[in-house]
Amino acid sequence: IITKGINGLEKLILREIHGSSVEVYLYGAHVTSWKNEQGEELLFVSSKAIFTPPKPIRGGIPICFPQFSNLGSAEAHGFARNRVWTIDADPPPFPPTVADGVFVDLLLKPTDEDFKIWPHSFEYRLRVTLGPGGDLMLTSRIRNTNNDGKPFTFTFAYHTYFSVSDISEVRVEGLETLDYLDNLKNRERYTEQGDAITFESEVDKIYLSTPTKVAILDHEKKRTFVVRKDGLPDAVVWNPWDKKAKAMADFGDDEYKHMLCVEAAAIEKPVTLKPGEEWKVRQELSAVPSSYCSGQ
Ligand code: BG6
Repeated sequence: IITKGINGLEKLILREIHGSSVEVYLYGAHVTSWKNEQGEELLFVSSKAIFTPPKPIRGGIPICFPQFSNLGSAEAHGFARNRVWTIDADPPPFPPTVADGVFVDLLLKPTDEDFKIWPHSFEYRLRVTLGPGGDLMLTSRIRNTNNDGKPFTFTFAYHTYFSVSDISEVRVEGLETLDYLDNLKNRERYTEQGDAITFESEVDKIYLSTPTKVAILDHEKKRTFVVRKDGLPDAVVWNPWDKKAKAMADFGDDEYKHMLCVEAAAIEKPVTLKPGEEWKVRQELSAVPSSYCSGQ
């Protein structure tokens, strides 16, 4: 279904027979809602989010492309999250297919204006799939369509904002003992010590060479989010905490307590594509009831 969302921006709704659903805005190909069979929202979107281009939407799943962060020549986190994508009514047959759930393909190609920011021609196909069990899969295919023979290089992230009941009761498993770059310390490299990761202050880390599966355990909600990723070696963990929350116009002062970003990404080793080459990666999210209890 295509319908009008906030500020008249077009959005698509995917529904699955057991009751789960996903909403995607054409603006940014931005997933803004993912609900389970009970109708509970699983993603965080700020109550102060600004749904007005060119401001990216605060929450959901922004796509960071062709650049993660503001270290390169393109805009902070790239421009894909603040362009209007188109729907491909006749998507090519590659998995995930209809057998894997209900899906939609969105396309982004650069305009002449985009070319001034990042002088490369590309086709980005994002397939958003809602599986029969309510899992949310995002498959990205990015192709270099330069006709000048030039390769291009980019970094990337699915900047997923998970909704959590209380950040101080949340732990992340799968990243312990790994190396990370600390964005709060000029991207210096450190090694994570000890047990699963918990939160008591601002965090902005890029974990490197991470396993394909990372889990976010929400003790209070008795829910575990499982992030499975393919072709995305890095995982960013971000929570702005109180001071930064206050400094962000599109984020409520106390909302940091109810969100956590865990972002499947390719940052440390940028990706290079020659003309005609395609990069294909995937993130799959599931939300399952958990029996985890604090202290056990
Ligand atoms: C995270 C970055 O991924 O995104 C943080 O690691 C950044 O450094 C955050 O502050 C939010 O970025 P933005 O551009 O959406 O405000």
